[in-house]
Amino acid sequence: MKYLTSFLLLLTSIFLQAQTPVYLDPTKDIETRVEDALKRMTLAEKIDVIHAQSKFSSAGVKRLGMPDFWTDDGPHGVRPDVLWDEWEQAGQTNDSCVAFPALTCLAASWNPEAARAYGHALGEEALYRGKGMILGPGVNIYRTPLGGRNFEYMGEDPYLTSRMVVPYVQGLQSCGVASCVKHYCLNNDEEYRHQVNVIISDRALHEIYLPGFEAAVKEGKAWGVMGAYNLYKDEHNCHNQYTLNKILKKDWGFDGVLVSDWGGVHDFDQAVKNGLDMEFGTWTDGLTMGATNAYDQYFLSKRYQKAIVEGRYTTKELDEKVRRVLRLFFRTTMNKQRPYGFLCSESHYEVAQKVAAEGIVLLKNDGNVLPIKPEGKKILVVGENAIKMMTVGGGSSSLKAQHEISPLQGLQMRLKGICDVEYARGYVGDVSGNYNGVTTGQDLKDDRAPEVLIAEAVEKAKTADYVIIFGGLNKSDYQDCEGHDRKTMDLPYNQDKLITALAAVNKQTVYVNISGNAVCMPWRKQVPAIVQGWFLGSEAGIGLADMLLGKTNPSGHLPFTWYENLNQVGAHSFGESAFPGIWREGKKIIDEEYKEGIYVGYRWTDKQKLKPTFAFGHGLSYTTFKVSNLKVLSPVTTDGNMTFTVDVTNTGSVEGSDVVQLYITDQKCSVDRPVKELKAFQKVNLKPGETKTITLKTDKRALSFWDEASDGWKAEPGEFIAWAGDSSDRLPCKVKFTLK
Ligand code: GLC
Repeated sequence: MKYLTSFLLLLTSIFLQAQTPVYLDPTKDIETRVEDALKRMTLAEKIDVIHAQSKFSSAGVKRLGMPDFWTDDGPHGVRPDVLWDEWEQAGQTNDSCVAFPALTCLAASWNPEAARAYGHALGEEALYRGKGMILGPGVNIYRTPLGGRNFEYMGEDPYLTSRMVVPYVQGLQSCGVASCVKHYCLNNDEEYRHQVNVIISDRALHEIYLPGFEAAVKEGKAWGVMGAYNLYKDEHNCHNQYTLNKILKKDWGFDGVLVSDWGGVHDFDQAVKNGLDMEFGTWTDGLTMGATNAYDQYFLSKRYQKAIVEGRYTTKELDEKVRRVLRLFFRTTMNKQRPYGFLCSESHYEVAQKVAAEGIVLLKNDGNVLPIKPEGKKILVVGENAIKMMTVGGGSSSLKAQHEISPLQGLQMRLKGICDVEYARGYVGDVSGNYNGVTTGQDLKDDRAPEVLIAEAVEKAKTADYVIIFGGLNKSDYQDCEGHDRKTMDLPYNQDKLITALAAVNKQTVYVNISGNAVCMPWRKQVPAIVQGWFLGSEAGIGLADMLLGKTNPSGHLPFTWYENLNQVGAHSFGESAFPGIWREGKKIIDEEYKEGIYVGYRWTDKQKLKPTFAFGHGLSYTTFKVSNLKVLSPVTTDGNMTFTVDVTNTGSVEGSDVVQLYITDQKCSVDRPVKELKAFQKVNLKPGETKTITLKTDKRALSFWDEASDGWKAEPGEFIAWAGDSSDRLPCKVKFTLK
């Protein structure tokens, strides 16, 4: 009987095996499943999966049981659904989300584990919403503080960006949702993003602008990368032989899909041959274009199919594209191990609050004005940014948040029953509140003249114990927004006059700047306390109130240099040709030459011996720290791996976290190198009086520069210096070492 049973079981499993096609068999490895599925697909089905069928979806293969594939923006939360082929809202009632803090705030946390939690929470929201790919994170480097989309990115330093993007991608993809790291590459400004042709040295390309993408691909194993609108070597980055076929796919071994930016495909033959895998957003006028779906007009649609049928192309390039799309399917929509998602859960709000708490930067705190001691006091809150919703607007990262707590609301919630909180508008900026049909519902209209608004605030400030001004930018056009760069570094809407007037009448004035970029602060000597508050999303008011009232101890450090003004910026030191560029004949292409080369951010201000308002890596705390006793643990082995230890002590009276940063100087090299470069960091939490010895590791890449002659990384033997401290301008520890 026993033998009969096992024989019957064997027969059944053989029968089932015969029935379960390989591509559907989860026990088979992905590559085997890809090849099996590819073999089964018709030409029409292969063409269908490599281009959009709607604003944010592409076709699956229904006959083979592969569902349509849905993507969605963006880096800070899952965008509300739009109509099939319109940017307007679909009007769903189940697509409000958690708006997480902007990625600049995440970078300012210098906490890779916070990045992992961020990616994971976003992945759960995307799963719930049925999205197989999130169009983010963005990792373009801050080349200029005017950059319209800097708030979506991770600062000026390639190493910090690399360390923060990897766990974000891993966290997101652990949910079976693909990341789509963007905008690859050299999309560092917005105004002419579709026409800019970047001219740049190989060193600057590899040392500054590529590392974030390289880490996301090689360490993060990103399943998607988005090509950028702009050109490099005269080819658009959505179909670029050099950046896509050579660097991304051959050198880095990227096995995912290269997705075009929306409307980023311009050339048929390049779209076939130069590394593009999925074409999205090519201009369509919706379904009104003739009888057939407008998406048939895409480069990688009927035209491509026809060219193959007519023998102008084999299916070589097509099959390579389809393999990558199938790999994406098996990693996401066809992945049976995917967890279930959920939306707007407590755990997601906790992540948003944690990232806010860890990213807010205390820039200045003379006389320890902060944290505020509110008992029995009168607090005046001033500024449009204390009340304006910031989750709506800014471009494609705009969201329909389930809720957004404003700074004023946050303070009112936390101070209820403790003291009064008065409010004065102070200035009027952008009273609109609508993006793609998502409306804030706020009525910010106020027709009073600027001087009346200032006079009202000043009058109230005279009798207040504290004045807290919320100013900065607001994601409206030219004020940290996709599609436009800022025209100046100055604060808009007459804020400088307001801040100066308030500081003159109240010695306990606090200025909180809400932005993704540095702004000029001509009044900073008159203001005792200054905070960089970022675009914090749903929990903005809670994050800011808790920090101002000392419930949380700030531990953010700047991910970019806070320049005094544009004269301190490399990109703005070589005239028009370096920014925004020089138009070619016919005004179709604008050549923008990155003449500052590798000297971006602190690398530039170090080289030019300039003193910025606040340095890269700067951030204060309500306690104090001492960084000491930097040691090289291991003699420099020929493979260049090194281990350092350094002590950090909390020399103050409250618990807090510090960010220990390690910079390396190459004392002698055959090429010019920066004074120092960030090569390791670690955030460490310490109780009062506590000392921890932390270990920092670097590898040979940390000692290397991009050698243009050999087209690769090179570390020259010689003397190096390692510096340690908790800001690029506060490095008390120094140790020398030799690379043999
Ligand atoms: C936009 C953006 C890109 C976004 C895409 C879809 O133009 O450049 O970041 O993901 O289109 O909205």
